[in-house]
Amino acid sequence: MDGNGRWASARGLDVAEGHRAGSRALRPVVETAMDVGVASLAVYAFSTENWARSEDEVSALMEIFGDTIDRELHDLAREGVHTQFVGRRDRAPDWLRDKMEELERATVAARRLHLWIAFDYGGRAEIVEAARRLAADGGPFDEESFARRLYAPSMPDPDLVIRTSGELRLSNFLLWQSAYSEYVFTDTLWPDFGPEEFRSALEDYAQRRRRFGGR
Ligand code: IPE
Ligand code: MG
Repeated sequence: MDGNGRWASARGLDVAEGHRAGSRALRPVVETAMDVGVASLAVYAFSTENWARSEDEVSALMEIFGDTIDRELHDLAREGVHTQFVGRRDRAPDWLRDKMEELERATVAARRLHLWIAFDYGGRAEIVEAARRLAADGGPFDEESFARRLYAPSMPDPDLVIRTSGELRLSNFLLWQSAYSEYVFTDTLWPDFGPEEFRSALEDYAQRRRRFGGR
């Protein structure tokens, strides 16, 4: 969900306003996913590298995440959205971790859509952690056993990864899981990304021929 900062500066607004606009863009995309029958949707909310931003921006983001849980995600739960957070838990402020875990508990039985929110998430950190866990368990050192030690072993590998804001890179997102994912890149900044563009990315994906290295 990239481009909040540029969206704000294009309007002469504070960066926090961009993040607020970005948080409002989530619900229509989640609702569209349910409408078209997507079973699993993962969004990248905050990376292990984002802690390097100014204290003001980080604390505004934490507040916005909390507000989004209160304002949007509990509503979405009533529509059948099971939310789980993917990433480190130990660095979030206590009050936010409590909200995250409460939401996970409250939505555990929801079945219409599985929403994964990558928070304090980094693909490399996840891989190192999985390696550490597998070594501690003494193996076996194969792909399946490794994958079972990722942050969210039940999260399916993404079929499609959509990156907004014109950047043509992965930025440490789901490195292991996206080995055979299809990609759609769009110049649209995340706060402007809506149902129509989401549907068109899915249509684009539907035209792809996936071979997974086969013939
Ligand atoms: C994405 O928007 C949201 C987070 C990383 C939390 P950015 O804040 O990265 O937006 P740009 O890249 O500065 O436009
Ligand atoms: Mg960015």
